[in-house]
Amino acid sequence: MQSVPERLDLTVPIVLAPMAGGVGTPAMVAAVSQGGGLGSVGAAYLTSEQITTQGQAVRAQTDRPFAVNLFAPLPVPTVSAEQVDAACAELAPFHASLGLPAPSLPEQVQEDFEAQFAAVVALRPAVCSFAFGRLFPAQLAQLHGAGILSVGTATSVTEAQVLEADGVDAVVVQGSAAGGHRGGWQEDALADTVALTRAAVEVVRIPVIAAGGLMSAADVRAVLDAGAALAQCGTAFLLADEAGTSATYRAALTAGGETVLTTAFSGRSARGLANAVSREVHAPLPYPHQNALTRPLRTAGAAAGRADVLSLWAGTGYAQATTGPAVSILARLTP
Ligand SMILES: Cc1cc2nc3c(=O)[nH]c(=O)nc-3n(C[C@H](O)[C@H](O)[C@H](O)COP(=O)(O)O)c2cc1C
Repeated sequence: MQSVPERLDLTVPIVLAPMAGGVGTPAMVAAVSQGGGLGSVGAAYLTSEQITTQGQAVRAQTDRPFAVNLFAPLPVPTVSAEQVDAACAELAPFHASLGLPAPSLPEQVQEDFEAQFAAVVALRPAVCSFAFGRLFPAQLAQLHGAGILSVGTATSVTEAQVLEADGVDAVVVQGSAAGGHRGGWQEDALADTVALTRAAVEVVRIPVIAAGGLMSAADVRAVLDAGAALAQCGTAFLLADEAGTSATYRAALTAGGETVLTTAFSGRSARGLANAVSREVHAPLPYPHQNALTRPLRTAGAAAGRADVLSLWAGTGYAQATTGPAVSILARLTP
């Protein structure tokens, strides 16, 4: 049987992590795929039209395989008026400092997953990866029927086993060092990436893709030696020329500081550089409400160059991220 890199015709055992929110541009996705790795479009916050447009933009630059990533749809939790008031009160001073109207929860707090998923199926990328949960059997069947490999995300061995039983083609195991959101849906093992990889390959038969803190060729070699089929790297590409990382975000990464796991921005735990929002927001709404609630603040903060209110997602290894073309970063990561 062919291995995943063989099925995808990869010459480099590296996946560019999907990075929703503008960092993972079509140009960067195409550069990594063209370089022999697997680029991923972070499509979780895109409309179905934007998914189609970005997919076409990747295809205009390369005919190599790429992935499109979504957040699996979760039941939207009910929140009380008191919870909303408390969360709004915490954000109010930040809004005031930017001259924004007082925070309020919009009616639609989550993207239209059905429409996003239909756009992915119609686009037919080589891979559809997803985080935050499981897909329904009918959705996995649709991907298989369209010849699209499915890749789920696990933060523990148990989640990897559930995804394997669901019938996914491969699983990303995400160690605690990873930048961005925690991709699982059950209790998070917050494990060391190499240890989690080793534990996962012992119990699942599908290919394991290791993610979290992989910043050098030696890091990539370590997870391959632990049994991973591929290494997924996000933070290593944050300073790439083609990345959509804003000047403010780039400056914050260069300035340094500690990374923390915070629920302040979205209501789900995610790793990023500590700032005023991660320090001062203590009563966030559950995901996806808080994500919707903080969107105007993040948008205005980006326009105003205010690093104190942006979600500066970064893995623990961010100080090792280098500038330059994505293909050079890919070469630097290749063992
Ligand atoms: C800026 C940023 C955005 C991310 N967005 C997503 C996403 O949309 N979907 C996803 O599955 N993972 C996302 N991740 C997590 C990555 O898939 C991956 O687990 C992580 O980047 C690996 O750790 P590293 O950042 O230390 O390389 C994101 C990571 C970063 C840094």
